[in-house]
Amino acid sequence: MYDGCVSGIVSDVIHFTETDSTNNQAKCYGLQGVSQGTLFIADRQTAGRGRRGRTWISGDADGLWMSLLIKPDIKPECASMLTLVTAMAVAETIRKVTGISGLIKWPNDIVIGDRKVCGILTEMSAKPEAVDYIVIGVGINVNSKEFHESVKDMATSLYMCCGREVKKEDLVKTFCEEFTAYYEKFVVTCDMSELADEYNKLLVNAGRPVSVESPAGKRVGKALGIDVTGALLVEFEEGTVESITAGEVSVRGLYGYV
Ligand code: BTN
Repeated sequence: MYDGCVSGIVSDVIHFTETDSTNNQAKCYGLQGVSQGTLFIADRQTAGRGRRGRTWISGDADGLWMSLLIKPDIKPECASMLTLVTAMAVAETIRKVTGISGLIKWPNDIVIGDRKVCGILTEMSAKPEAVDYIVIGVGINVNSKEFHESVKDMATSLYMCCGREVKKEDLVKTFCEEFTAYYEKFVVTCDMSELADEYNKLLVNAGRPVSVESPAGKRVGKALGIDVTGALLVEFEEGTVESITAGEVSVRGLYGYV
């Protein structure tokens, strides 16, 4: 079904009608030493996983649930930037296939309007000095017409936004091309220096109030954009600018948090 869709760094597709999680499958193959560039796609996931241990609802075939296994020659501390690179590739894929300009909620959610259409979960196996493999899992709500009660106020689908069914093969084919193009720019420097300007144009947070949650509490500031490491620069009320690398950043007005 997806065999004719691969190109560039993506050399192979393994398609499941149903599996627990394409990230799990990709990790199993990664452990077995499969070469990089295999894309795992499932029609349905029975145990889809999101960031921060959340469940990713993906039990129907309306979405595109896929994970890419790569083995880049980069330092482990650079791996998290591949999530931002992937977000750019997904935003461009959606634009090319549907004409809709999605934006990125830092670091890696794709939003249309104030709702999430795609999430990305990157997982890595590494030694202190080198990456063994990286799995980049991408979940795109493609042809969903309704959502589970728990996410219905924050989620959207390409169908809901463009009013027509979108072919998942078109998305996969374009994603392979776009991921390769952005990845090749990234690996020149192994940071976001070639990509930060373009990322910042796609950043929904830019210039908007954000609430930064950490164990110390919640602080409100204004997002300025990312730096070359992929960190989010936030200007706080007292005038200081800090780079945020981890923790929860919520954007006021998005996902129903006004
Ligand atoms: C998030 O926004 O929390 C990340 C969601 C990532 C979901 C995708 S679907 C394909 C791959 N397999 C998984 O179990 N998760 C990722």
